[in-house]
Amino acid sequence: MENKNHQILIIDLGSQYTQIIRRSLRYLGFHSIILPPGDSLKWVENNKPKGIILSGGSASVYDTDAPKITEELLSLGVPILGICYGMQWLAYINDRSSIQAVKEGKSYGPVEIAVNNKSSLFQNLRDKINAWSSHGDSVKHAPAGFEVTATSKDGSVIEAMECMPKKLYAVQFHPEVEQTEDENIILNNFARGVCGCLQDYSKKDVIAEIGKSTKEKLGNGTAIIGVSGGVDSTTLAAILAPVLGSQLKAFMIDTGGMRKDEIEKVKKIAEKTKINLTVIGHYKNKFIEKISTTIDAEGKRAKFREVYGEVFKEVAKSYGATHMLQGTLATDLIESGSAGKSALIKTHHNVDLKLGLKEIMPLSDYFKFEVREIARLFGLEELVAGRQPFPGPGLYLRVVGVPVTEELLEIVREADHEVTEILKKHQLYDKISQTVVALLGVNTVGVKGDGRAYGYSMVVRTVETVDFMTVKGFYLPPPVCEEITSALVKHPKIVRVFYDWTTKPPATTEFE
Ligand code: XMP
Repeated sequence: MENKNHQILIIDLGSQYTQIIRRSLRYLGFHSIILPPGDSLKWVENNKPKGIILSGGSASVYDTDAPKITEELLSLGVPILGICYGMQWLAYINDRSSIQAVKEGKSYGPVEIAVNNKSSLFQNLRDKINAWSSHGDSVKHAPAGFEVTATSKDGSVIEAMECMPKKLYAVQFHPEVEQTEDENIILNNFARGVCGCLQDYSKKDVIAEIGKSTKEKLGNGTAIIGVSGGVDSTTLAAILAPVLGSQLKAFMIDTGGMRKDEIEKVKKIAEKTKINLTVIGHYKNKFIEKISTTIDAEGKRAKFREVYGEVFKEVAKSYGATHMLQGTLATDLIESGSAGKSALIKTHHNVDLKLGLKEIMPLSDYFKFEVREIARLFGLEELVAGRQPFPGPGLYLRVVGVPVTEELLEIVREADHEVTEILKKHQLYDKISQTVVALLGVNTVGVKGDGRAYGYSMVVRTVETVDFMTVKGFYLPPPVCEEITSALVKHPKIVRVFYDWTTKPPATTEFE
């Protein structure tokens, strides 16, 4: 029987983009596997893939320690696509004089290329596209039997070549990355058109793969997972609960800073997905006590993180945990890769807790849209729709300018709930990316009943965004503002309500 898991073999020659080739194939619906060059021949003979992709890599074909690809792969009749270093190797192996070693500087960045769309690789593609290049050496002439199928705009660089009779295809640029404006047509043409692969990779396969690889990494160990009620950690726990059984300990920390009924909602989700969830409630006062010692935004986050780390330690110890599961996504890792260069804006509470546990990040190869689709498969529509994002330190970040107290947390919790209900009633909630309702701890004068009032203000911030890197205000209609204002000023301590539609930058989404 045909094994659909073995449609495309990606041979990893050391490129930073190897995982992205697999992600792009998965996005297109194709099964693939990544292997180092040494294991590939035996694997191909045993598993009969429909195609092979040679990734890029930082080596030169002239390097003595360049990755060793077995030449026998070329004579098996399996179509091969070489990308970047993969192309240089294909050229070199067919003609030792074909490679121009780099003399100075690498070509890195966008290049405009002209393609021959009679090539099966470039069918349905425009004649000229912007592609992403990142290479040192280049192919100075195509080996005998190869035809040049794309060049740089001025014709000086060979950007693609192929030898149809031998089913060998090669591109110098990187079709797998988003910066190449081909809408994945090139990889699709290779996998479907050239190799005849089926587009049958489904979310169920993703779930099975996440379960299998996590179980392998965990071995006989015990893993803990903190479930916040957000889509990533909750979906991960739902995927792994049936696979890991008693090896998985899921817990939720009652930090005292959650939204109204949050814990009850997560408990219901846990029941539905058979996550065995323990709610840890006895640290709530410690969170409030510690955080109330400062009104500084970063100070509060540091205190939150401190207590958060303590809870994790206690949980890890009580369960004898060896591993910690994190719902970190591919994009989180990609973004944090550049974090070293960017200024610290806000510290996040669950990064680098130094618990001495091995970390497993089963979602680190996946994108948000994929996790949301999986959540839907588990019937967790309520995680995906009808719930805006909420920061880990929660309502602690929404009492601004005065020390947090249980009473003030309760005011913002209730206010957040009331605003949410009003927005839902007016069918606005799902149109807004995030709503922040905060208490501003500055006294202003008002008049309530027949007397003078001297109290705090609430501020309601509604924003629209795709990725929270930038946001713009979501302007509420005046009647909705009036309804919100009159609901919030009912509290005896609240005198005014402000609305904040400042863009990010310069403002951030949260006030702290
Ligand atoms: P900012 O305020 O940075 O927020 O524009 C962007 C998104 O991140 C959330 N946020 C946090 N989430 N811990 C979290 O888990 C935090 O410390 C934190 N600070 C901000 C914020 O709610 C928004 O969705």
